[in-house]
Amino acid sequence: MEFVEHLKSSVDIVHVVGEYVRLKRVGAGPRWVGLCPFHTEKTGSFSVHSTHQFYKCFGCGAGGDVIKFVMEIERLTFWEALRYLAERHGIPLPKRNDLSDEEAKKRGGVYEMHESAAKAFRELLFSGAGQEARAYLQRRGLSQATAEEFGLGLSDRGGQMLARLFEKQGFSGEEMEASGLVLRRTDGSGFFDRFRGRLMFPIHSESGKIIAFGGRALAEGDEPKYLNSSETAIYVKSHVLYNLNRARKAVQEAGFSVLVEGYMDVIGVYAAGVKNVVATCGTALTNFQARSLRRHASDVVVNFDPDKAGMNATEKSVPILLEEGLHMKVLQLSGGLDPDEYIKESGADAYLEALRAARGYFHWLGDRARARFDLKTPEGRVEAFKFLLPSIQKMPDRLDRLAVANDVADYLKMDAGVVLDEFRRAAAEKRGKVTRREEVFLDPKEMILLHALLEDPDARLEILPVLRQSSVVERLRARGVFEAIVKMTDAGETPSFGGLESRLSEPDRALLVSLLFSDETLSKDYTTEQAVACVRKLAMVERSSKRDELRKRMQDAERSGNLEEALRMNQQLLALEREG
Ligand code: CTP
Ligand code: MN
Repeated sequence: MEFVEHLKSSVDIVHVVGEYVRLKRVGAGPRWVGLCPFHTEKTGSFSVHSTHQFYKCFGCGAGGDVIKFVMEIERLTFWEALRYLAERHGIPLPKRNDLSDEEAKKRGGVYEMHESAAKAFRELLFSGAGQEARAYLQRRGLSQATAEEFGLGLSDRGGQMLARLFEKQGFSGEEMEASGLVLRRTDGSGFFDRFRGRLMFPIHSESGKIIAFGGRALAEGDEPKYLNSSETAIYVKSHVLYNLNRARKAVQEAGFSVLVEGYMDVIGVYAAGVKNVVATCGTALTNFQARSLRRHASDVVVNFDPDKAGMNATEKSVPILLEEGLHMKVLQLSGGLDPDEYIKESGADAYLEALRAARGYFHWLGDRARARFDLKTPEGRVEAFKFLLPSIQKMPDRLDRLAVANDVADYLKMDAGVVLDEFRRAAAEKRGKVTRREEVFLDPKEMILLHALLEDPDARLEILPVLRQSSVVERLRARGVFEAIVKMTDAGETPSFGGLESRLSEPDRALLVSLLFSDETLSKDYTTEQAVACVRKLAMVERSSKRDELRKRMQDAERSGNLEEALRMNQQLLALEREG
């Protein structure tokens, strides 16, 4: 386990989490907050503690250390998460065998096969056999630099390239099949490649690992036009957005993402300089994908193809994006062109201009309603209202909803009061579900003590003996935590959140987490002397209350004539007073 500790002390959880979540520092303290990536929320209940290197969501309860975070967000096993962190931070890994469990090994193989498949595809594209495919790219205006940046490749027409390669690399038939890149012949006589003679687009996980491929037919009329990877141990279709690995930084910087339909759209838009672009790749947008976007920016411009399918997909994405708290705009390009074609036709500047002019989703939806219903009749207006309402009700933010309510009323020439009533009802329904962060109140002295024990070695040295000696601990609200700290130091370890966590019962762990994230007192605005004075004061109070109790028991004993007992009490009292 030593390696795990070494790893954890070498990476900064704020930095790691920051790649997935926009974190804001609370004042100058150790606490950072953001929107929880594990559940849908509007206000940040997700906290990261830089001193103690852990995270906690007060909304959904998710929490843990940096390894747990990587496991959850990248859906990795423990060992995979270790490897992931080690590789990214240049920390040498112990030998592979020490670091494997079955599941991780299997997935590791699938990752490896994807990595070497991508390399083989690339090499084929830029070899003599790739001439025709390269000409195709050129015809479509795709430069070699762009092809390289996106790792484009070519799959072998004969269908044997990967099957042979994997065999040579020592993968078993079962392992090959598990990759989804190779299929077993129905007559059992061997294996062949899933992708044959196609232009290959590698699909990456958010952290940049190749997890799947899309393959485009090169000849007009070849069916299907696109063939995609099936789901495997490393690929869950509904979780992935194409290009998010490259786009995420640009999305954070721009404050919005551009959502398009296809691989070629992404590449065209990206090459035009709009790098914050991602695609759903032929599947309907999911809440999971919407949340991935929301982690990086709160605004999104949906720019699907202006055909019937694209418009329906846009309409379906409205409630999903709103539900996840995104501010959505719609860009519907003119001339029936998809983004890639539009840029080729009108140029990057025209596209940028169109992007800038994209309007709020409501206008787009309103136009849809206008086309569908007759707004001149009251019935038509009611129908249109019914059509628009569900989307608007999905907006988690009350002010956003109200703003749109006015638009709706205006647009449908309805009474604003009626619209607002409907909205209020929706809001009331929602309210029941809000989760509140639990605040823990602790005696300030106890708070300072805890803080000092964890973070001030000088204070710790003076405080611990007092704690050990007296029965102060027994009276503290966070007794379990203090006892664990004493035990840790007795065992020769330095108390830290990580070490404590495993020694605490669940309620105590929850208490510690809440305390560390408490808005109050946890900045170090006390001196070592004050911290030591705290424990002395607590010990003093403890002694005096003990004295009071003894005195009372002594009096009771005297009154009931039990002189022997009274005498014993008296002796204890004297002993206590000698202690000070
Ligand atoms: N798609 C798919 N299977 C198909 C057709 C499309 O998976 N048979 C997905 C692909 O991810 C594709 C996206 O849907 O990129 C959009 O489809 P389309 O607009 O037809 O493709 P383009 O990306 O525009 O590609 P091209 O310009 O080469 O036609
Ligand atoms: Mn298209």
